[in-house]
Amino acid sequence: MAADLRCYNIADLRARARRRLPHGIWEYAERGVEDEAGMARNRAAFDAVTFRPRVLRGVHAVDPGTTLFGRPSAFPLAIGPTGAAGLLWYKGDLALARAAAKAGVPFTISSASTMDLDQIAVAGGRLWFQLYLWEDRSLSLAVVEKARDLGCEALFVTLDLPVPPNREYIQRNGFGTPFKLNARNTIDVLRHPRWLAGVMGRYTLDGGVPSQANLPDRLRAKITKGAPPGALFKQDDLDWDGAKELRDRWPGQFVLKGILHPEDAERALALGADGIVVSNHGGRALDSSIASLAALPSIVSAVGGRMTIFLDSGVRRGSDIVKAVALGADAVLVGRAPLYGLAAAGEPGVAHALGLLRSETVRTMAMLGARNVGEIDSSLLA
Ligand code: GLV
Repeated sequence: MAADLRCYNIADLRARARRRLPHGIWEYAERGVEDEAGMARNRAAFDAVTFRPRVLRGVHAVDPGTTLFGRPSAFPLAIGPTGAAGLLWYKGDLALARAAAKAGVPFTISSASTMDLDQIAVAGGRLWFQLYLWEDRSLSLAVVEKARDLGCEALFVTLDLPVPPNREYIQRNGFGTPFKLNARNTIDVLRHPRWLAGVMGRYTLDGGVPSQANLPDRLRAKITKGAPPGALFKQDDLDWDGAKELRDRWPGQFVLKGILHPEDAERALALGADGIVVSNHGGRALDSSIASLAALPSIVSAVGGRMTIFLDSGVRRGSDIVKAVALGADAVLVGRAPLYGLAAAGEPGVAHALGLLRSETVRTMAMLGARNVGEIDSSLLA
């Protein structure tokens, strides 16, 4: 299947995904916020980092494997949480989880997924769970409990959207919630018959359009309806005490996602977090925030070696993964890269995206003379 795709890198998968998806869905997955300077800044930060390779190191058996929270991962990567997967492909969350399990990397279930946690958990593999808090906090606590019962190892609490982000294109495209058909989005959808039949058609045969799956039945609104009271994400009142309460309730690994300031990283450590994600949400939260990669070194100086540090936002190549690790990250999270594979070809497309990123990582390590992840360090950076 992978060979049939004729996609030789993540950019090829992106182009294929773009062709398959209605414009409004594509823009929801792909775009940033406001003027999208943040997305460009994320990429520029990776491009500005260059290597100073070492030679004659005998690199015939490069091992990209690593350990995250005491358990093995095939390479320093996990799939991050993305709520829209189910709109890109029929049961997209499950396809992502299955491909991650087969590739030997962890998968993070989004609290905004359109599939039930237990339906995703059948994929097996290492599962983590990401939380946004619903206005009615009892809903969030019930979902967290369910994630724990299903064996999710880690809870990732996303902090960088304390208020809704400014995504003007969602309004322009008529793809907001509640979703309402209008001339523009009707034409858009009709011009993508493969998506209409393969994604929406299959949901329709299967019981209807997707809804926010992690809510109790009485509160589940189809995407065509507005959310009932209490069932909207709302965490503008969340503070460090609130985060501490969540920490104390969760027996597993606890991770704060969306940290860009070293003082916040220190507070996360003091609160008892096991990890942080240095992230600007793929340029989807605050357009003018620092690139995640640019924020990494000072955070590594503050808390490196004392907690697990993930990096996300802009990873499109294995060399990006190696750069993040050389700057002190334990692993990266990827969001859009596997989504491109998903929208292009479902589970085999995700497997292909992960396979590309893994083989690029191994090749970069060999070129640098790094035989294992422990040998990737700042001495390899120019
Ligand atoms: C939600 O986390 C989004 O970025 O759309």
